[in-house]
Amino acid sequence: NEINWDVEAASKAGYDHFMIKEIYEQPEATRNTLERRLDANGEIKLDDINITKEQLDKINKIYIVACGTAYNAGLVGKHAVERFLKVPVVTDIASEFRYSDPFVDENTLVILASQSGETADTLSVLREAKAKGATVLSIANVVGSSIARESDYTLYTWAGPEIAVASTKAYTTQIVAFIMIALDFGLKKGTITKEEYMNYIAELKEIPDQVAEVLKCEDQIKEISKQLVDKNDIFYLGRGLDYSTAMEGALKIKEISYTHAEAFAAGELKHGTIALIEEGVPVIVLATQQRLFEKMLSNMQEVKARGANVISITEVTNKEVEKSSDSVIYIPEVDNILAGILSVIPLQLLAYYVAKERGCDIDKPRNLAKSVTVE
Ligand code: G6P
Repeated sequence: NEINWDVEAASKAGYDHFMIKEIYEQPEATRNTLERRLDANGEIKLDDINITKEQLDKINKIYIVACGTAYNAGLVGKHAVERFLKVPVVTDIASEFRYSDPFVDENTLVILASQSGETADTLSVLREAKAKGATVLSIANVVGSSIARESDYTLYTWAGPEIAVASTKAYTTQIVAFIMIALDFGLKKGTITKEEYMNYIAELKEIPDQVAEVLKCEDQIKEISKQLVDKNDIFYLGRGLDYSTAMEGALKIKEISYTHAEAFAAGELKHGTIALIEEGVPVIVLATQQRLFEKMLSNMQEVKARGANVISITEVTNKEVEKSSDSVIYIPEVDNILAGILSVIPLQLLAYYVAKERGCDIDKPRNLAKSVTVE
């Protein structure tokens, strides 16, 4: 008997697709990204990113620049950096930033995020920012990639090889990296106390197990995906950091299931977008940000009253969402800044299962490339 040994099947380790394998690798990927940078005292060790307190004091603006999913991670990163470093942050798309004549000078920190480290637009931003005297720090996954090599400083994510075109574990590890940078710089600059810093690290260390916990929603997501398979439009709503997560959820489902999806800032609903809500339209509502929770609850009621199929994602303590939701996916209770790492997991699974129900080529979606090295 001839043994038909398929290298690709073997490397999928029993999973149907690389994407689902990579979704399931997120507990390990987030753990590695964090723990490789913790020292014996449990503190973040970024020795090679030796920006001094004096340099940090001079930085008066920060740009986070990236493409695709890395850009969405940068939107979350903005929340972490502003919160811990107390410096205004603008997150921009590399192809927009490049041509916008940005205000970049010696007092600017540019943080780039790139899984491949080879994305052409992101690389061009790097070169132009350096030419203008900015400090460039990159978050990259591929060791020795162009962006990693040319940046002043690089923090590697430890996601391991990401094969599926739709990015999953690179995204969650990039968020971990942004939080680590924000904490390290914040402590150095004195914008957070040592106690706050240690508390956040303790919470961050819980994240890998919490990701594993959230992955248990898979069966529930499979059921929900059956309701979405024939839909033409899916809307994702959130406020604050949840809006950033909504952007990534919508991108994921567009990329692999070819379903039109859009993320809306929930507060903007009444300024136009609510006109799109009618009977049976799926609306995925993210409600993890405590101080915005009541506002999200009323947005949920608004869309529910217009017949939407409301699927909400919230923390396990927020049971009141059940009254205005058709389905609820619960995540553990975590600090607002960390919630995005958990709430994106059901959105990744949802994209995967909708695409699977629709018979799409999940790992190699039409027209897309894993790494875009041309402009
Ligand atoms: C491509 C990929 C996306 C990715 C983006 C940025 O469009 O299909 O999944 O997010 O490039 O890639 P990078 O390697 O810079 O993170």
